[in-house]
Amino acid sequence: MGSTLIRNIGFLVQAFENTPSLCKGKAMNMLNVRENAWVLIENGKILDFGTMDTCPENAGSIIDATGKAVLPTWCDPHTHIVFHGSREQEFVYKLQNMTYEEIAKNGGGILNSAKKLQSASEDELFVAAEARVREMIAFGTGAIEIKSGYGLTFEDEIKMLRVIKRLKEEMPVTIKATLLGAHALPIEFRENRDEFVRIVTEQMIPYAADNGLADYFDVFCDKGFFTVEETDKMLTAADKYGLKSKIHANELDFSGGIQVGVKHNALSVDHLEFTGDDEINTLLKSNTIPTLLPSTAFYLNLHFPPARRMIDAGLPIALATDYNPGSSPSGNMSFILSLACLKMKMLPNEVLNAATINAAFAMEVQNTHGAIVKGQPANVSITQKIPSLAYLPYRFGSNLIEQVILNKA
Ligand code: NIG
Ligand code: FE
Repeated sequence: MGSTLIRNIGFLVQAFENTPSLCKGKAMNMLNVRENAWVLIENGKILDFGTMDTCPENAGSIIDATGKAVLPTWCDPHTHIVFHGSREQEFVYKLQNMTYEEIAKNGGGILNSAKKLQSASEDELFVAAEARVREMIAFGTGAIEIKSGYGLTFEDEIKMLRVIKRLKEEMPVTIKATLLGAHALPIEFRENRDEFVRIVTEQMIPYAADNGLADYFDVFCDKGFFTVEETDKMLTAADKYGLKSKIHANELDFSGGIQVGVKHNALSVDHLEFTGDDEINTLLKSNTIPTLLPSTAFYLNLHFPPARRMIDAGLPIALATDYNPGSSPSGNMSFILSLACLKMKMLPNEVLNAATINAAFAMEVQNTHGAIVKGQPANVSITQKIPSLAYLPYRFGSNLIEQVILNKA
């Protein structure tokens, strides 16, 4: 594989001797930056880095990064990129003032995607998801969490997990798989909710865990979807099978999702548009990472999660795209950074930490992604020439990532 020297780097971001820790509260605004720097990659790993006064003379190949930033690739710890077809008709309904919940009640939304997915073959699903992954890489993403959740039957959820497994094997990015067994209640179970919960706990969770098809378990714990009691039951089953949870919570209401997630020591609770003092205090006493998905609030016209209050209270924040066909049909992490600044008043340093170090922790890839660390795999992006790091979220909508170097562990 040889060696690659990136030199004259305008801004080298998140380069550390050892894996950094999660950034919380005030530390979210402290960004690790070296100006006029170099990084040496050997056999796919970070060998060394420093400022230009110590730059090695030679390497197998040399990249000049004058005026550019070198950053760890983004981690995207919450996506639903295995899906079939699209839902632009619902996009139009929303423009005509129908709400997400009304669309869902009428068989649209997740149930609509489930119908489409059930008729698709694994190959079709793989090919479409592969194209999405490639586009995400071009935006600078190097690690992706992918959920099932559009199958809704045992067979179709397992089919989705098999597609995710193949993506793990064949894609150059690192992928984590989540069984989202309880994404929406299929219509035929409306009078028999317990039976669906039983299928999740007694069939989906055991099969996915025993066959190594899932790293995590997820439930949509929210108004109109699954209750706290149902969520508690399903998380208990997931705990028993050694699947940590990463759950959808408090997107549509103060659902109790944050509390039940923390009770089960969830790795992350995600969305959190409805977060008040109780929820913040619960999170402060836990190791659960609040993961915010600002493009969903943007796309559905919801109010945004109170990121500022959460950070000021001392919490960490991770950011993700939620890439899915209904509420966030985009995998552009750079746009997420801009939205987090513009709509949640996060600062440029905070969004950069949230999309790298913290996002890596939110999918447990912090020893391979989210920072540029000696001895660890080189997963780095090189930007265009930029005047400062704040320029990245400032230039919303553009893709300023020029080159992406990926090395799986
Ligand atoms: O994260 N909130 C639940 N699930 C997805 C929406 C999926 C869909 O509408 O298809 C989300 O926003
Ligand atoms: Fe989601």
